[in-house]
Amino acid sequence: MLDAAAVQDLRRQHYNATLAGVRKAHDTLWCFRVKPDFPIPDFHPGQYTTLGLGLWEPRHAGAAPEKGLDEKKVRRLGRRAYSVSHPVADPGNGRLAPEGLGYLEFYIVMVAGGGSEPAPLLTPRLFLLNQGDRLYMGEKFTGEYTLEAMADIRHRSDALVVFAGTGTGEGPHNFMIWQLLASGFQGRIASIVCVRYKSDLAYEAIYRRLEKKYPNLSYHTLTTREADTAHQKIYVQDYIASGKFESDIGRRMDPANTHLFLCGNPAMIGIPKIRGGQKLWPEGKKGVIQIMEERGFRMDLGKNRGNVHSEKYW
Ligand SMILES: Cc1cc2nc3c(=O)[nH]c(=O)nc-3n(C[C@H](O)[C@H](O)[C@H](O)COP(=O)(O)OP(=O)(O)OC[C@H]3O[C@@H](n4cnc5c(N)ncnc54)[C@H](O)[C@@H]3O)c2cc1C
Ligand SMILES: NC(=O)c1ccc[n+]([C@@H]2O[C@H](COP(=O)([O-])OP(=O)(O)OC[C@H]3O[C@@H](n4cnc5c(N)ncnc54)[C@H](OP(=O)(O)O)[C@@H]3O)[C@@H](O)[C@H]2O)c1
Repeated sequence: MLDAAAVQDLRRQHYNATLAGVRKAHDTLWCFRVKPDFPIPDFHPGQYTTLGLGLWEPRHAGAAPEKGLDEKKVRRLGRRAYSVSHPVADPGNGRLAPEGLGYLEFYIVMVAGGGSEPAPLLTPRLFLLNQGDRLYMGEKFTGEYTLEAMADIRHRSDALVVFAGTGTGEGPHNFMIWQLLASGFQGRIASIVCVRYKSDLAYEAIYRRLEKKYPNLSYHTLTTREADTAHQKIYVQDYIASGKFESDIGRRMDPANTHLFLCGNPAMIGIPKIRGGQKLWPEGKKGVIQIMEERGFRMDLGKNRGNVHSEKYW
């Protein structure tokens, strides 16, 4: 619909960043390393920005096809929010990644779509990029999901910080964990990651190295679609509610010195609706917030800060 010159012109007009590199876990799960043309602003681990590509860009054949775009729509930029991830450490020697990488890492899965859902807009386009290609990055980095939320235990050696993510929900935790380790945090850090397949654990090798160097760090993986797990799925909620997680880390989660950070699938998190000051919990399986509130924890409500914090993706 648009000729090559028009596409070049739109790219020049809209794009302000370059794909500096990619680390691929598999075909549809990548760590995108993006270098913006603008100086990387100060922001906190856990925050997010936006990435975008023009709707004139081609789509991955493995994603549900989009309905035809008219001449006006095809000139638009498709943007989505992405938490900033982090390489954390060198997988070869386990040395912590240095400060000031010169790029930002984003941990992104291609949403294939299909069925009755609308065709996914951005990821089928992102997964056709090559190193050196141009794209859009938002200049604003924002979000309350940061380590500021655990300021009360930051300097306690008896502190416990638990990160739990589904799929790419692990992304912001990687940056937060890097910062805790780089700043000499003395408390205990545990990261739980639940994915469909082992091949979806893009950061596991890095954490296995780090666990050897940092006795206060542990990494806990759950898969749900491997032959040995598909028929008895253990979700993050099950792992916590059953007491297995506490048994694995060898201590109880005490609300006096523990904070939890939850990111990813909204059902894992289970944010309640607040009606007349009452919490209406989502129906079905309890989410982690409800499980923890029943154990004396308080969800973070922004103004009223608690010890269970969350970032939901959809
Ligand atoms: C604050 C915030 C931070 C985010 N950070 C990340 C991130 O770091 N990495 C990332 O991959 N995505 C992240 N997302 C989701 C991201 O914004 C897009 O929704 C996602 O990449 C799909 O975009 P799309 O245009 O291809 O599909 P859309 O047209 O946006 O389709 C959305 C549908 O895809 C599913 N979906 C969306 N994101 C995911 C996901 N990550 N994993 C599984 N299913 C998903 C949901 O069913 C959702 O309804 C974040 C979202 C928010 C709100
Ligand atoms: N992972 C892949 O191999 C793969 C490959 C190609 C494309 N994709 C695309 O990527 C998109 C996202 O896939 P993803 O695997 O990264 O993310 P996801 O679908 O959010 O799954 C991440 C993990 O969360 C689990 N989960 C699902 N429902 C839950 C609930 N109610 N409570 C707690 N945990 C729950 C999943 O288990 P379940 O097994 O029960 O879902 C899985 O272990 C999909 O749209 C898919 O099209 C994925």
